[in-house]
Amino acid sequence: MSAFLTLRVLHILLAAILVGATTAITLFIVPAIQDARGAGGQVMAAVGRRGYSAFISSVSGLTALTGIYLYWHFTSGFDPVISGSMAGRVFGTGGLAGILVTIIGGAVVGRNAKKVAAIMEKAGPMADGAEKSALLSQAAKCQQTVATYEKVSLALMVIALVCMSVGHYL
Ligand code: HEM
Repeated sequence: MSAFLTLRVLHILLAAILVGATTAITLFIVPAIQDARGAGGQVMAAVGRRGYSAFISSVSGLTALTGIYLYWHFTSGFDPVISGSMAGRVFGTGGLAGILVTIIGGAVVGRNAKKVAAIMEKAGPMADGAEKSALLSQAAKCQQTVATYEKVSLALMVIALVCMSVGHYL
């Protein structure tokens, strides 16, 4: 198999994992974690300890990198005429949405999920009281930020997916 086909297969496989994981997390896991309040924060911390953050950032980063390679290949080395064609613009728009997903994932979602994990590690062994409830409400705020930006990421992924599915046929 050529390098192009290998990287194309890898890109689609990684994109499928990314969209599937984000759909499950956004629509089911994060709302369930929020419903469970303190216990939910502990689940989030446990998921973090199993390396979810590193896993999903690697999948997202590699989707973007293989995508940039595919875009370079499709435009014969970022040729302005091909990049400016309808297909070039559609792949470009989808690519931009995909790159934003990677940036938001690392800069907002990942950072806030790590904050929740750190807060829960600290609050877990504490006795009930004002200090613990202040920490839990801080964790709930971070969880809300995660929930909001997971939705934004999912919307951007749908844009990327739609653009890439139709790009060759416009
Ligand atoms: C959320 C992120 C992404 C998703 C879900 C995604 C999804 C896909 C899918 C499903 C295809 C196959 C389409 C088909 O065969 O009809 C594809 C192809 C492609 N993707 Fe992505 N992608 C993502 C990110 C990116 C990025 C960041 C770029 C570039 C900057 C990119 C550039 C491309 C290109 C150029 C192709 C077509 C390759 C070719 O056959 O010439 N993708 N993508």
